Amino acid sequence: MSGRIFKQYRVLKIMMNEAVKLLARSRFVIAFTGAGVSAESGVPTFRGSSGIWKRHRAEELATSEAFRKDPHLVWEFYRWRMDVIRKAKPNKAHYALADLERMGVIRAVITQNVDDLHREAGTKNLIELHGNIFRVRCTACSHREYLKESGRLDEFLAEKYLPRCPDCGSLLRPDVVWFGEPLPRNALENAFVLAERADLVLVIGTSGVVYPAAYIPRIVKETGGKIIEINTEESGITPIADVFIRGKAGEVMSEIMEEFRRLI
Ligand code: OAD
Ligand code: ZN
Repeated sequence: MSGRIFKQYRVLKIMMNEAVKLLARSRFVIAFTGAGVSAESGVPTFRGSSGIWKRHRAEELATSEAFRKDPHLVWEFYRWRMDVIRKAKPNKAHYALADLERMGVIRAVITQNVDDLHREAGTKNLIELHGNIFRVRCTACSHREYLKESGRLDEFLAEKYLPRCPDCGSLLRPDVVWFGEPLPRNALENAFVLAERADLVLVIGTSGVVYPAAYIPRIVKETGGKIIEINTEESGITPIADVFIRGKAGEVMSEIMEEFRRLI
């Protein structure tokens, strides 16, 4: 091991120990996650060199104007994403967060992801700020459908035509939040209340630049709580993080869990 690499390794170890100590002494822990937590599951992130918004223009796909203009294109994109995501499995980071909830350490996972992988991993108290890609809703009436539960996912992906509401025949849309749209009110209010109560937030794999979601760690900090951040790169949250661990979510969370189990 060269001197520089050894030094980096030492810093990583120190940060990891700090994180474990914080986790063990905090009383109300929440997690706040973004696309990076699912990267090791093979779900592409949005920003960065191979991000989705590098290959596709967000305003042509993820806005209500785009959907009005060209619903075929928008549905083609969402059917492709649904297909990629449904083949993905939760990784060690998702499982670690579900374990921490079962152990009574984590009270809630607040996610910006629409991929359902926290639920698949077993997290119960999950707040989805940007919706869920496996849910669809009617553009005219109150019809909502969770395709994994209704058993229509295969059929839905196999079709090429525009999906219609079984109740009123209007166009269905993905139940996700598009740019310029408000976040689901209940989800956001609950998330803010949790952030005010939390004495620690684990921020995993988010660039922390999309608001209002990015307020969550800021609220924790402003109300006296601490921030542990895990990310392969520095993010918008890093300047206010108490502990920043550079690394892949799944790898870092497995190491943290190993140490944490030894400590408690
Ligand atoms: P981004 O794509 O903006 O950021 C992903 C973050 O994950 C980056 O900071 C990466 O450095 C980090 N990352 C990548 N791989 C990682 C790994 N293996 N382990 C840990 N970190 C890793 O995704 P979000 O922050 O989630 O909004 O984006 C926020 C919102 O912008 C999304 O919810 C979506 C998007 O447009 C809507 O769709 C409304
Ligand atoms: Zn309808």
